[in-house]
Parts: sequence; structure tokens; C-alpha cells
Amino acid sequence: MILVTGGAGFIGSNFILDWISATSESVVNLDKLTYAGNLENLANLKDDPRHAFVQGDINDRTLVAKLLSQHQPRAIIHFAAESHVDRSIHGPGEFIQTNINGTFSLLEEVRAYWQVLQGEEKAAFRFLHVSTDEVYGSLGANDPPFTETTAYAPNSPYSASKAASDHLVRAYHHTYGLPTLTTNCSNNYGAYQFPEKLIPLIILNALNGKPLPIYGDGMNVRDWLYVGDHCAAIRTVLSGGRLGETYNIGGWNEKTNLDVVNTVCAILDELKPAADSKPYASLITYVKDRPGHDRRYAIDARKIERELGWKPMETFETGIRETVAWYLDNMGWVESIVSGEYQKWMKANYQNREVP
Ligand code: NAD
Ligand code: DAU
Repeated sequence: MILVTGGAGFIGSNFILDWISATSESVVNLDKLTYAGNLENLANLKDDPRHAFVQGDINDRTLVAKLLSQHQPRAIIHFAAESHVDRSIHGPGEFIQTNINGTFSLLEEVRAYWQVLQGEEKAAFRFLHVSTDEVYGSLGANDPPFTETTAYAPNSPYSASKAASDHLVRAYHHTYGLPTLTTNCSNNYGAYQFPEKLIPLIILNALNGKPLPIYGDGMNVRDWLYVGDHCAAIRTVLSGGRLGETYNIGGWNEKTNLDVVNTVCAILDELKPAADSKPYASLITYVKDRPGHDRRYAIDARKIERELGWKPMETFETGIRETVAWYLDNMGWVESIVSGEYQKWMKANYQNREVP
């Protein structure tokens, strides 16, 4: 069996659902259930004995040691993190606590567990660290995409904390021989994404007739990957990745934010036209930019494609259509997570972003 951290979040829950349907192995899911964690994402596994949920913090070393000794996992898939750039600007402390200290605590307990494993079990063990393309910093319009050897240049408290965690993972392999794998993925989208992130935020605001906030000039570029393709890539790296290596994961789908928002609006116009028949794009509102906003991310995914034979299955056009349709079909899920805490966040993040 495997131990997943952060499995009640967006990518972690998609990964667990994918894992349960694609393999015959069980999962222990350790998640603190912060504002971003939601057990409703895993409602389909409620009666499935192959999924065991444990509410707890990766910084709780006693708990982590107990789970390792009790379940004897053959691999750790480490998703748990604070993940939203804007929140890291408003309050970086939690990002240091979870992304850096939490990863350190987890590595220490996993090292102690792995060191006493024997023979085949020790050889087969893996620690897979899920990271981001943001550690590489920002690209100019004509720069080549990030490769695994691009120098780290993180620009936000979030990306700096993820960069630090990547360095710790690297050091635990180099110094202690811990069998690690690191993946650096581009922007994900799909079902169960918390609506503080661009795509679900736009869907939700559009359906509620609210302004669609575009930071700056809307020409920042992100490289979008459907979450199911990310999950498949992680399974591929876990089974075939070379120890101590990093693998970039991306969809070859560079889009400006304005393109993404216009695409979402056009799909909504088709699937659920506004009551007043106005195009949803008429709600687009330019607001004050994110401080330190990275201009462009792009992933060169040739290493994982060449070495491990992974390729994305979805294009942006197919994946975004499925995603918009999922949100329309799952408004109950959205309503259940748009709590008082979420409303407070929306107020704090957008109140000083009037149209410049
Ligand atoms: P998310 O914010 O949706 O979920 C994070 C999960 O971690 C939540 O369930 C939360 O409760 C849990 N968590 C937070 N702190 C914890 C702690 N101290 N102990 C235990 N659990 C804790 O994040 P996501 O978008 O699903 O991202 C998952 C991982 O993938 C992160 O490491 C992120 O850096 C990385 N990543 C995300 C993207 C993306 O586009 N979302 C892209 C590349 C990499
Ligand atoms: O690149 C991978 C990263 O992608 C992950 O590591 C992060 O966890 C994930 O949150 C995501 O980071 P971004 O900052 O790129 O995602 P976000 O959805 O916050 O923003 C996407 C783009 O849209 C970015 O250029 C900022 C812009 N934006 C965002 C919001 C929330 C807006 O223009 N308006 C908004 O209201």
C-alpha cells in the first residue's frame, strides 16, 4: 500500500480516486483538512476499505511514525502543502510551516522508517515529492521552456517554500540515499479545484453574474495540464522513475490568462447561457496586479516523455470543456465549500484591487 499526504486537496483527491480505479493497492491518506482539504472529494470511497483517511498534520512526527509502522507503506506520495500564491503573499507563515518544516519532518520520519527496512522492501521503497514549475521563476516571451536543469529562481513565498522543500528532498537522496523522486508540474485544472484558483473562480463568478477579475493586463502565460494527466504522470514516475531524479510534467498548452478566461466564458455561453443573454465575457474586469506576478511559465516535458513514455491524454480544448461541465453538474459540491472562511478570503484578496 501507499501513504498519500494532502489527499483531500485538489490534486491529491484526484490522485487517490485515480489510484483506486487504476491499481489494486490501498491508500492511507494523511491530511490536516485545512480550508483547502475536503473529504467530500472522496465521497465515492466512503465505503471502500482500500482508502483509510487520517486527519493530521505532516508536522506531527509521532503520528507520522505511527502511521508508517502500522501500515508499512511501500511508497509515500507527498502532496500536502499550502498551494495558493495569493495566500502566500497575504500570510507566508503557514507556507514555511507546512511546505518547508512539514516536508522536513516527513523526510526525517520516512528516513528512520526506510533505514530499518530490509532487502526487497528497502530496495522497492520510494518517496515521491510533488512539486511545481514555479520554482524555476518567470520566463520571457522568447525564452525556451523550463527543463529539469533550469536554475531555481522562485519569486513568491509559495514558490520559495516549494523550492526549499525540493532542495531538502534532493539532499536526503544525496546524503542519506533515500530513494526519492521529484516531479515539477505546471498549472493543473479539473474537478474538485478550490475556487480561489483562476479557472473555478471564473466559472463560479460568471454563474453568479459577478466581475471576472483579471490581474494586470491578462497577458501572463501559464502552461495548463488536466489533473488526470498529472495523476497518470505521477503513477508513471513512481513505477519507472530513476532514483534521485526530477521530472518536469506539462501539457504543452501555453495560454494567456485572457485566452483561458475567454474560453471558459464561451463554453459557459454554450452550456448555460446567462439569464440576460449577455456573453459572460462582458463580466471581465481588469484589476490591480498580483505583486511579483510571474509573467510566463512553460514546461519542457521531453524527459518524462522520452524516458518513461508518458504523454498527456487531454488537450486544453477537451479538458477545459469537461471541467466546465463538471462544475455545472456539481454545484452542490461548490456550494458546500463556499463557506464563511471562503467569503472572508475573497474579501481580503480582492478588496484593494479596484480597476486601476
Ligand atoms: P490544495 O491546496 O488543493 O490541497 C492541499 C492539501 O494539503 C489540502 O487537502 C490540505 O488540507 C492539505 N494540507 C495542508 N497543510 C497540511 C499539513 N500541514 N499536513 C497535512 N495536510 C496538509 O493543493 P493542490 O493544488 O492539490 O496541490 C497539491 C500539491 O501539488 C502541492 O504540493 C502543490 O505545490 C503541488 N502542485 C500544484 C499544482 C496546481 O496547479 N494546483 C501544480 C503543480 C504542483
Ligand atoms: O504553475 C503551477 C502552480 O499553478 C501551482 O504550483 C500552484 O499551486 C497553483 O496555485 C498555480 O499557481 P498560479 O498562481 O499560476 O495559479 P492561479 O490560479 O492562482 O492563477 C493563474 C493565473 O491567473 C495567474 O497568472 C494569476 C491569474 N489570476 C488569478 C486569480 C486568482 C487572475 O488574473 N485573477 C485571479 O482572480
